[in-house]
Amino acid sequence: MEYQMQMDKGGYDDGYDKCCPFWDVSPGSLVREATSYWSFSDSKVIDLGCGEGKNAAFLAELGATVDAVDISGAALKNAGRLWAGRKCINWIQGDVRRFISRDVTYDVAVVYGVVHCFPDKSDIEQFVNRLPQLVRRGGLVLFCSFNDRRQDIERAHPNFKPTLISHERYLNLFGFLDIVSASDMDLHESHPHNGIEHVHSLTRIAGRINV
Ligand SMILES: C[S@@+](CC[C@H](N)C(=O)[O-])C[C@H]1O[C@@H](n2cnc3c(N)ncnc32)[C@H](O)[C@@H]1O
Repeated sequence: MEYQMQMDKGGYDDGYDKCCPFWDVSPGSLVREATSYWSFSDSKVIDLGCGEGKNAAFLAELGATVDAVDISGAALKNAGRLWAGRKCINWIQGDVRRFISRDVTYDVAVVYGVVHCFPDKSDIEQFVNRLPQLVRRGGLVLFCSFNDRRQDIERAHPNFKPTLISHERYLNLFGFLDIVSASDMDLHESHPHNGIEHVHSLTRIAGRINV
């Protein structure tokens, strides 16, 4: 319940309600880069914490079939508006920490900006450890999250307390990946609903499942 409150108040729902789109509609950098070494045509993709669906829509356009999951009805409402009529995207409202695929093993998981929203570090660890059950051996994981090096978000995201772990811990957690690229860099941004400049240190990891 507390987690849901955080999602509504300090998280992103305020922005989703006020602006559509709230996020850029272009795909994330790792997702775009992946097109240079992965053919998404006919890939089965799971987008975990899809938000308004910029990555899902981009990959569906390249021929992937995408299951796109987000806990926020406001995010999925914006996604429906932005990508109305797009084929091959299955929008699902739910908590990705409990997401289980009964009949599909995915070729690709996109995990963009969601795990720092989880209430606890143990949620992050359990969630990351479950990814090899969702994605086939040799499949691709594209991961991005705030890390604990530098966050300047008090004014821009009041009430939002992201769960932060170190870049090195993320690298350890993703020991089941053959790493394609990994970085720890600052992102300077502002959001359209309040325009407040702020900084996030971001871990980005792309890799192939090796277990
Ligand atoms: C920073 S946004 C990123 C959205 C999208 N991946 C993108 O890159 O534009 C994080 C998203 O994760 C969603 N989220 C947070 N916790 C979640 C959970 N437990 N299950 C599903 N979605 C969650 C939020 O609603 C939000 O839309």
